[in-house]
Amino acid sequence: MVRVMLLGQGFAASVFAWGVMRLKKGLMEPYGIPLARVDFGVPLTSIDVVASVDVDAVKVGKSLYEVVRMYGLEPEPELREVTVMPGLKLESTPSFIKTRALDDNRSLADSLARLQEFIDEVKPHVIVDATTTARSSPLNVWEKVEDGVQKGTLPHPQVYAYAALERGDVAYVNLQPAHVACSPAYVERARTKRALVLGDDCATGATPLTVDILEHLAERGRRVLSVAQFNIGGNADFLSLTEPDRNVAKEETKSGSLRDILGYEPPHFIRPTGYLEPLGDKKFVAMHVQWISFGGFVDEMIVNMRINDSPALAGYMVDLVRLAYASLKAGVYGTVPEINLFYMKRPGPQGLKHKPKIIAYQDLLRYVRGIAAIDIVERVFEVSQIRVAG
Ligand SMILES: NC(=O)c1ccc[n+]([C@@H]2O[C@H](COP(=O)([O-])OP(=O)(O)OC[C@H]3O[C@@H](n4cnc5c(N)ncnc54)[C@H](O)[C@@H]3O)[C@@H](O)[C@H]2O)c1
Repeated sequence: MVRVMLLGQGFAASVFAWGVMRLKKGLMEPYGIPLARVDFGVPLTSIDVVASVDVDAVKVGKSLYEVVRMYGLEPEPELREVTVMPGLKLESTPSFIKTRALDDNRSLADSLARLQEFIDEVKPHVIVDATTTARSSPLNVWEKVEDGVQKGTLPHPQVYAYAALERGDVAYVNLQPAHVACSPAYVERARTKRALVLGDDCATGATPLTVDILEHLAERGRRVLSVAQFNIGGNADFLSLTEPDRNVAKEETKSGSLRDILGYEPPHFIRPTGYLEPLGDKKFVAMHVQWISFGGFVDEMIVNMRINDSPALAGYMVDLVRLAYASLKAGVYGTVPEINLFYMKRPGPQGLKHKPKIIAYQDLLRYVRGIAAIDIVERVFEVSQIRVAG
């Protein structure tokens, strides 16, 4: 079984915990999981959520069963077995969250030690960061990470990733925009600790569609004049993005692909634009692209969508957990560009050029065949050893 620890028991992590249990019981179809039908040795049913961490006083101390119900979903009784434990609020947790955190009344060093003890007890194979968006800078050397952790100047995702990598033998999947897989220090540390970091910022809604549309236009020799893409939603993630620093962090990961795909950067406006409570989790996405066609004629495209934000991410989480586990088993450490390029908005490692998702998907399948082959070779080897011994 793949032991999963969730950081940030928000809507996405809750839909994930709820959905994984339903998949195991055959209560739903695996729609929205890109590699659901690809067998690389880690079945959909092998995922076990064994721990959860949050800092929201409303959630800490409750079982996953209770938290999932808070989101209006009907949970399976097994979710009573996992209780949400307190994490680190640091300076990066949004001010609208009333916290119950390890560092509410303790020193940072003590709080961090407690978190590390908890990770040691839980022994996760994969830690998934689905916490609220935090702004960060890339970190180049591990000493800077250690220094920032000690001084309390790093945002929570970078501190959680530090705690995970100090343990080693684990995969850290960063679904949010903080620089983890795009920080050379974390990737290098993961390599030396037989660990893996995947990220950063999962691409689920308009971003992957936009990059594929741009690829389509580029292949046909059309000159893109402008790209406008915005999202308005009514969930807690959108509420947090009304804080300017967090919004900039999202804008950075959403805009990065234009130059890589087109070879130039047309004028663009790509960012979450607002919080509108009645929309709930089903965000409104609008996209406008205009381009020059043969003879200077200008065409344009308008796309409107309503997307259930958190379920979209939860489906990808199922794959990311399986891929992270399979990669570690195959002895792949550091990070995996083939995974990041398909699933992430700003794929690590730092400086990696974006690819259209339709092309990244083919590369991902090749990668998956590769790690599955390693596994098969190992099994054949074991069998031949037994035969020789016999
Ligand atoms: N489609 C999507 O929903 C989508 C797509 C890509 C990326 N993301 C990213 O995934 C993350 C989660 O999205 P969501 O919709 O579940 O958001 P959410 O607001 O519902 O959940 C975030 C959770 O993180 C918790 N949290 C905040 N600070 C924390 C800390 N310091 N330690 C532990 N927990 C903390 C919050 O209390 C909350 O429960 C966000 O960062 C978002 O940017 C979401």
